[in-house]
Amino acid sequence: MTGLFDLTGKTALVTGGANGMGAMIARGLLQAGAAVIVTSRKAADAEAAQQALGEFGKAEGLAADLASSEGAEALAAKLVDRGDPLHIVINNAGKTFGAPLDSFPAKGWDGVMMVNVQAPFTLVRDLLPLLRAHATPDDPARVINIGSVAGARVENLPAYSYAASKAAIHHLSRVLAVELAGDAITVNSILPGYFPTKMTSHIRSEEQAMSAMLDHIPLRRMGRPEDIAGACVFLSAASGAYVTGISLPVDGGILAAG
Ligand SMILES: NC(=O)c1ccc[n+]([C@@H]2O[C@H](COP(=O)([O-])OP(=O)(O)OC[C@H]3O[C@@H](n4cnc5c(N)ncnc54)[C@H](OP(=O)(O)O)[C@@H]3O)[C@@H](O)[C@H]2O)c1
Repeated sequence: MTGLFDLTGKTALVTGGANGMGAMIARGLLQAGAAVIVTSRKAADAEAAQQALGEFGKAEGLAADLASSEGAEALAAKLVDRGDPLHIVINNAGKTFGAPLDSFPAKGWDGVMMVNVQAPFTLVRDLLPLLRAHATPDDPARVINIGSVAGARVENLPAYSYAASKAAIHHLSRVLAVELAGDAITVNSILPGYFPTKMTSHIRSEEQAMSAMLDHIPLRRMGRPEDIAGACVFLSAASGAYVTGISLPVDGGILAAG
């Protein structure tokens, strides 16, 4: 039972891993022994993340904009051309859009669906040769898609495309899990509750909204870096080799409360 959570010798890609929850995940994977490639839209952020995460292990920052299929294809092509082993893909980059229902614009859909659903699909599709190359039935390659509780219950936020996109990525994860099981690739989604990142800054900046949010979480606190990192390490290491097709809430009990 030793080494259950050891990622020594593995390489992981974490999209959006230079900032926010992606950086929490990247740090956890590095501390478990993996080499980690993180992406950001901004080359300067990718470079800064490489420096900052380098303190915890072998980190590389790459610039990639996943708001177009071409952007996702270019990132995958760069990694496939290099040909270095890749064992873990964590589709964490995400985008939201909020507006009242009556005036929710068309432009609130395209980018959100692209970054949250189509880019993860495109990356998995194009990275399959790398993932298959080192996957074995005893030690599968891993795909982890970061979804949201907002895709599994009604969260009362005016983020219509976001909620739909997250429900879509949860289901797409199950579809791919069944399809890729024969290739020794597991596919799971993680459904975070509320974590202190840019995405929740509008809630955290208002006392009343913050208090309502805490009332809504049975464990009465926001998620911490180790909460999301722990779930990713579990699914990525020997501990998670027999787990595929699940939607794992990391939400302090929000989904349990119904
Ligand atoms: N925070 C929460 O409470 C919460 C709850 C449930 C689910 N989530 C999910 O967790 C994931 C991370 O979100 P977060 O909380 O860390 O939010 P965030 O601070 O807003 O970060 C969003 C991340 O996505 C990346 N990103 C956004 N648009 C992109 C694009 N066009 N191309 C490439 N990357 C792009 C950003 O990268 P750069 O800015 O560096 O380019 C950033 O790393 C998302 O999938 C989100 O939906 C978050």
